[in-house]
Amino acid sequence: MIIVQAIDALREELKSWRRAGETIAFVPTMGNLHAGHIALVKRAQALGSKVVVSIFVNPTQFDRQEDLAAYPRTLTEDCAKLQAAGADLIFTPTPALMYPSGGLATKVEVPGVSEWLEGASRSGHFTGVSTVVCKLFHMVQPDVAVFGEKDFQQLMLIRQMVRDLDMDIHIEGLPTVRESDGLAMSSRNGYLTTVERKLAPSFHLILREVVDALHKGRQDYASLQIEAAKSLESRGFRPDYVEIRRAVDLLPAQVEDTDVVVLGSAWLGKARLIDNIPLTLKKVTETS
Ligand code: PAF
Repeated sequence: MIIVQAIDALREELKSWRRAGETIAFVPTMGNLHAGHIALVKRAQALGSKVVVSIFVNPTQFDRQEDLAAYPRTLTEDCAKLQAAGADLIFTPTPALMYPSGGLATKVEVPGVSEWLEGASRSGHFTGVSTVVCKLFHMVQPDVAVFGEKDFQQLMLIRQMVRDLDMDIHIEGLPTVRESDGLAMSSRNGYLTTVERKLAPSFHLILREVVDALHKGRQDYASLQIEAAKSLESRGFRPDYVEIRRAVDLLPAQVEDTDVVVLGSAWLGKARLIDNIPLTLKKVTETS
């Protein structure tokens, strides 16, 4: 496994692989890797002959400075995990290499999908994500890139950017990897205290209750969303949103929509948790 920090060194290595006919599968990360990231690497191995993983805590996607400062940086452990998983190259650029002018200059904006839900709660977050992913795609020029569905909106935003900018990259989404108690794996779970960690799986359970209610035929989506938020509050969370949206474009779901996703975000202590459950509803048929 090769570790490179410089963009030129990355390009040289990738050029020689491409000349040799290798196909490149890419997994962009911010490090502090857990089993969810390793699942992305394993999927990448099935899709390309060489796997490149980037580790870069991207400052431009943090809306709060304290979150950026506190974000866990565990490069040595991450490299060991990637070596064991069989990654071929790790790209670890510094902020100065990624942003020579000190911050965002040229920006990639994806209007619409970047404005709701996470975009509404975290000002500038998605501009930071689309810009850094676009830059990384230009540097790596992968055939395929793999992302987790836990960040459902991020995945949709990247797919939209790739379509709009005619990037010749297949975007693969992978289902959320969960702890045995249902909590979605996330680097931010490390912010939870022992007591909060015990409470945290109820976030997923409450979203699952919404899913069960939908499967049972409830169509009062607004009330379901309010009930779920109240349920979160009663268990000590500070909910940001619980929403039932169309899986295809994340617009508010209507009763005739069949492919939907229940998305939620809530604070528990210092951790802002996000999760989602996609589901397919039976078509509502007219009865005479
Ligand atoms: O999902 C993440 O870890 C980040 O948002 C990403 C895609 C690596 C961009 O910094």
